[in-house]
Amino acid sequence: MSDWKKLEQLYEGKAKKVFATEDPEVVIVDYKDDATAFNGKKKGTIRGKGVINNRMSNYIMKQLEIEGVPTHLVEELSDRETAVKKVSIVPLEVIIRNVAAGSFLKRMGVAEGTDLLCSILEFSYKCDELDDPFINDDYALALGLATQDELNIIKTYTHKVNEVLQKFFLSIGIRLIDFKIEFGRLSNGSIILADEISPDTCRLWDIKTNEKLDKDRFRRDLGGTEEAYQEVMKRIFGE
Ligand code: TMP
Ligand code: ASP
Repeated sequence: MSDWKKLEQLYEGKAKKVFATEDPEVVIVDYKDDATAFNGKKKGTIRGKGVINNRMSNYIMKQLEIEGVPTHLVEELSDRETAVKKVSIVPLEVIIRNVAAGSFLKRMGVAEGTDLLCSILEFSYKCDELDDPFINDDYALALGLATQDELNIIKTYTHKVNEVLQKFFLSIGIRLIDFKIEFGRLSNGSIILADEISPDTCRLWDIKTNEKLDKDRFRRDLGGTEEAYQEVMKRIFGE
């Protein structure tokens, strides 16, 4: 066991707090039960979410490390707290869509659940004031959000994450519809997977019934949000 000590709070986001440690290269994230949608316009609480997202995200990141995707994970410290490598976040939301859902429906005029002929990788510019606008590679390069080499690495890792996650979720009876991930730069400039992978950041549908087991239940007031998160947890950890 380690003895990471939580020092001053560096940042509070919508779903997590971040604390300094005695090691300048390591921070502690503390997952909250707070939930927001529509860029913070809708606010609520999903009881137990912080614990589920922390444990699930760490479990998945461990698998991704084995599969060759470097991640920020250092050590899970408690149900809600994890020591992670300190990064500066690349201001891109990197999204993969395997099946049509969410913002894609309006943009492209297709029905929810339409199978896509190939996976789509898309970028949004991570900027709350602008509501995270959809951008392409040229926007990212022209605005200096990332270099071409970084975009190439990010895309390679993201397709690998999709491959690993699709297989993993299928093994627990879940279809991975889409997901969002974020990357960070270490002080030496190398790119690693950061943030979280959880029902907040993935669309997860039951393979048999298509029941939604993710944050769309909260976004769309479908009810049963806590139960859906618990169900994903149960399928992963058998609890
Ligand atoms: P979208 O269909 O609303 O663009 O969302 C695509 C994926 O990204 C979906 O799995 C939900 C996730 N997502 C986030 O993690 N954070 C966000 O702020 C948004 C808008 C979506
Ligand atoms: N990130 C969004 C928000 O800030 C939530 C979401 O739709 O996932 O409100």
